[in-house]
Amino acid sequence: MMVCSCNCITDREIIATVDRLMLDEPLRLITPAVVYKALGKRPRCGGCMPNTNEMVQARVDYLRGDGVLYTAEDEARHTGPHNDAEAGHGETAHLAR
Ligand code: FES
Repeated sequence: MMVCSCNCITDREIIATVDRLMLDEPLRLITPAVVYKALGKRPRCGGCMPNTNEMVQARVDYLRGDGVLYTAEDEARHTGPHNDAEAGHGETAHLAR
């Protein structure tokens, strides 16, 4: 779903970027501006900001609440945690707390 028509940013790009940012720095404050910068974009009209903010916060809350900080695709970059793929958690892995 297109979220930002000015920059052609989809919800999938936003979620993937939040995931990547949290993997890189789990305690980082993630805002729409941080996500746009990570995508190499800048807000233009700002019409997407309310939806983007809601999506970013929902994703951050979800990831922090469940401890899911990265996908199996990112697992090779991460050190330490076990892979929960065999435990029925699909393509996600959990960071030990
Ligand atoms: S719709 Fe995103 S900046 Fe205009």
